[in-house]
This record gives sequence, structure tokens and C-alpha cells, in this order.
Amino acid sequence: MKGIIAVALAMAGMCLGAASPAAASDPAAGEQAFKRLCASCHIATAEGRRGVGPSLWNIVGRKSGTVEGFRYSTANQNANIVWTPEILDKYLANPRAVVPGTTMAFAGIRNDAERANVIAYLQTLK
Ligand code: HEC
Repeated sequence: MKGIIAVALAMAGMCLGAASPAAASDPAAGEQAFKRLCASCHIATAEGRRGVGPSLWNIVGRKSGTVEGFRYSTANQNANIVWTPEILDKYLANPRAVVPGTTMAFAGIRNDAERANVIAYLQTLK
């Protein structure tokens, strides 16, 4: 029995490791930051009352500008980005540097750890 628990714990550890490349980041803290910084404009669910911005459900790995029915700016529409954690890190540091002309009125998150936490939280939205 003990052996089984040990194996299960080891496997759970491996899964967590695989899910988040930035192992130090904290999705729970990221959720708090998301509520504070992003939730005024973005929902984090597949469905629901749409905000000023597109839903961020399943954002990690998604192609830019593809939320059905959301009217993106031409800049975001034509950005042709796949939202990997690496690109999100650059984008959330300075949205206009990655998508010049975006209508997302957000200055960016300067703190590296906070950005990593938000991205870790975004990775759970699926
Ligand atoms: C003031 C409102 C506002 C805030 C705050 C805001 N956003 Fe946005 N966001 C938008 C709008 C509007 C767009 C669409 C931009 C466009 O079409 O140019 C957008 C687009 C995006 C996109 C691209 C989506 C896609 O489908 O291509 C991502 C990713 C994103 N926001 C993440 C975030 C995160 C994470 C935060 C918080 C750290 C945040 N945004 C804060 C309004 C906002």
C-alpha cells in the first residue's frame, strides 16, 4: 500500500513538472493577479458574459485573433501569433511591443514573477 502511494505521489510530481515549464511560478497567485489586472476586461471561461476583451479560456497554445464573434483590431487580427508561454511573457510585459496597434489598453506587468504567475494561471484555463 505504501508503495502504491509513493508511486502515485511520484507520478503526480512528474505531471506537475510537465504541465508547467516554469516550475517556480504559482498559478494561485496568478489567479489573484488575473482578477486584479485582467478580469475587468477578460473572462476566463469558455462561455459567459463577454468583456471588453476576448475570453482567455484555452489561450495558451491558441492562435491569436481566433475567438469567434469577438471584433479584434486589425493589428491583433493579423498578428499571426501562437500564444505560447514565451510569447505571452513578452506580450504581457509590453503588449504594444508584440502587437503594435493593439487596442488592449493595458500597460503591461513589469514584475517578472507576477507575469510568470499569471501565465501559470492561464495555462490552467482548459
Ligand atoms: C482594459 C481592458 C483590458 C485589460 C485590463 C487587459 N486586456 Fe487583454 N485584451 C483586451 C482587448 C480589447 C483585447 C483585443 C485587442 C485587439 O483586438 O487589438 C485583448 C487581447 C488580449 C490577448 C490576445 C487574445 C487573442 O485571442 O489573440 C491576450 C492574450 C490578452 N489580452 C491577455 C490579457 C491578460 C493576461 C491581461 C491581464 C494581465 C489583460 N489581457 C488585460 C483588453 C484588456
